[in-house]
Amino acid sequence: MKSSFYMPTKVIIGENCIEANSHLLQGMGTKALIVTGRRSAKLNGSERDVEAALRKEQIDYVRFDQIEENPSLETVEKARDFGKSAGVDFVIGIGGGSPIDAAKAIAVMLKHTKLTGDTLIGKSLDAVPVVAVPTTAGTGTEVTQYAIVTDHKAQTKKNIGHTVFPHIAFLDAKYMMDMPSDITIQTAVDALSHLVESYLNVRSNPMSEVFVEKGLAYWGECVDNLLGGFFTYQSRKDLMMASMYGGMAIAQTGTSLPHGMGYALTYHKGVPHGLANGTLYVEYLRCFKDQAKVQKLHKLIGVKSHEELEKILTALCFTNIQVTESELKQYTEEMCANKAKLQNHPEVIGFEEVYKIYAGSLLLVKDI
Ligand SMILES: [Fe+2]
Repeated sequence: MKSSFYMPTKVIIGENCIEANSHLLQGMGTKALIVTGRRSAKLNGSERDVEAALRKEQIDYVRFDQIEENPSLETVEKARDFGKSAGVDFVIGIGGGSPIDAAKAIAVMLKHTKLTGDTLIGKSLDAVPVVAVPTTAGTGTEVTQYAIVTDHKAQTKKNIGHTVFPHIAFLDAKYMMDMPSDITIQTAVDALSHLVESYLNVRSNPMSEVFVEKGLAYWGECVDNLLGGFFTYQSRKDLMMASMYGGMAIAQTGTSLPHGMGYALTYHKGVPHGLANGTLYVEYLRCFKDQAKVQKLHKLIGVKSHEELEKILTALCFTNIQVTESELKQYTEEMCANKAKLQNHPEVIGFEEVYKIYAGSLLLVKDI
């Protein structure tokens, strides 16, 4: 049995956990770059709590609040230049996947100041310390080494390739209470896709499966909330835990086909990441020739049959994305070039199977 486990992030969970553990910021550096999107970190109180903790610990800080959804290499470089001129020596990413992933990429560029957006993508560079405060429940990036950025030259999203686990992750569900229901659902589907793609993965191992099993149980508790679009504090906490366990699992195994295939839908069609994955899920689960492990998922999520799971996925992820035949072929070829994701799939898979998943999930329209 081959198995390994590495997850060095200190995870602090609970209401008001930033305030109660502000002393942990002392070890991170002397001046912080707070990285956020434009609005939500201000509205949900997370930025205020982080700033109060920094003031309490007498740590100086500056803010960069211009991270867009699916952050570009250009934005990451701009934030690095801002942080460098301000003399920061650590980064605090607050928000969904975009600000936290951007914070990781910025942290690499702050450590290696000659890097540009064009030369960032690579392997094995270290970074200045990162602190993560997730305010959505989906990406799990607060406990992974990945940072996904948009490379406009390559016309896709990419992992930067460096190992940047946050030093500390503060998880407080109170920041998620006012998250709109559509974003809650999209991010919850992303969390589910991490758990499932880790489980149905050649690199799945007994330790990653412990996280998957815990995460799917939390996710299964929230199915009625997701279908009904209503969320209690308890369901917010459960989704936050499902997301964290999903992150811990993919930190060990990586993701698989839907993530690789979904990038094309996000880049070319503007479909949010979670929905892009979720749209492909019914066909993805059907593509397994050996359905034994797929069926184990039902028990873990708490559904009675594959039909029930398909119904849930269809209800949560109805998108009606239109594609032409030539787009379908282009996306399929792009996916087939992504050897790392193909290799994670436990069965032999090629152009025909990938094309079938896309074709069965999207609405085919005539080429103009
Ligand atoms: Fe994801």
